[in-house]
Amino acid sequence: MFARSAVRALAQPSARLFSSTASRNFKVAVLGAGGGIGQPLSLLLKSDHLVTGLSLYDIRGAPGVAADVSHVDTASEVNGYAADQLDEALQGANVVVIPAGVPRKPGMTRDDLFNTNASIVRDLASSIARVSPDAHILVISNPVNSTVPIVAKTLEKAGTFNPKHLFGVTTLDVVRARRFLAETVGAHPSETPVTVVGGHSGPTIVPLISQSPRGNEVKGEKYHALVHRIQFGGDEVVKAKDGAGSATLSMAYAGAKFTNSLLRGLSGEKGVVTPTYVRSPLFEDQGVDFFSSNVELGRDGVEKIHPLGPLSPEEQKLLEACLPELKKNIEKGKNFVQ
Ligand code: NAI
Repeated sequence: MFARSAVRALAQPSARLFSSTASRNFKVAVLGAGGGIGQPLSLLLKSDHLVTGLSLYDIRGAPGVAADVSHVDTASEVNGYAADQLDEALQGANVVVIPAGVPRKPGMTRDDLFNTNASIVRDLASSIARVSPDAHILVISNPVNSTVPIVAKTLEKAGTFNPKHLFGVTTLDVVRARRFLAETVGAHPSETPVTVVGGHSGPTIVPLISQSPRGNEVKGEKYHALVHRIQFGGDEVVKAKDGAGSATLSMAYAGAKFTNSLLRGLSGEKGVVTPTYVRSPLFEDQGVDFFSSNVELGRDGVEKIHPLGPLSPEEQKLLEACLPELKKNIEKGKNFVQ
């Protein structure tokens, strides 16, 4: 038994990157597969054995990425699609991941990307509504706080919006929070999981460090520095890349990690819980109807939206700063589609 599983692991070396319980076939489409995120994300998805079909689309370069990735020795079928083949790329997709759009340059906020990315995301959402209306949609393109409401509104207009199937990918904030807390307290990242709630930009990112097993070891100045680093960690990468873009490799890792969580939920695995930005009732009474909190993922996508749990006074303040900003970002997205 042991020997057989060892042989299987060798035959599929990278399948062990992500834990899983396979029980269904999943076709995943990546829109923007030729880009800085799209390429490594496609590679990581090729390594995920829950993915049985991989459909790579971009307005530039996707067939080349597909040919390259398709040589990796896992079982999934890979196809690349050129600019005029979006419909073919979406055909039969269960999950559509969207990293299409322009990234930040030094000095830019995520909101500065709105003018370019809003229309890209809206047009892709229209095609999804037409060709694969039941697909689960994972939005990576920034500003996520606004692009997710844009997708929702576009689908709503097309009559296909299912709030259980739409996710803003905030996993990179969760990955950064875990890693940075581990560095701060000198622990292994396995000991420092952090739930991150709110949205995905600067002050809308609210890490709930007090709920982490090692979180209460960080106080005063150290605490404020840690929160700032989690909220603005993306800027470190933008600055270091010096005009060549924003986080791509860590984002691809985060995108593949979230996709794997969703596929595990869709496969019927129980107890898959992770933060993600969804249509949420938690702060609806304050006009904030999209919010990231821990979400249980199940056979039909969003199964249960968890409440935030106990917050420290500092976290309460962070939340108060988050909500009005997030509300503005959501309204901006919705108004774009009207
Ligand atoms: P990139 O410029 O390297 O790649 C974007 C790709 O999108 C390009 O290959 C481009 O040809 C393609 N594209 C543009 N319009 C398209 C369309 N209509 N259909 C299909 N493909 C299209 O940018 P990168 O670094 O990959 O970033 C992509 C997006 O992800 C940006 O908006 C960035 O801000 C965002 N991002 C999100 C993060 C998150 O945590 N959610 C983290 C890091 C980046």
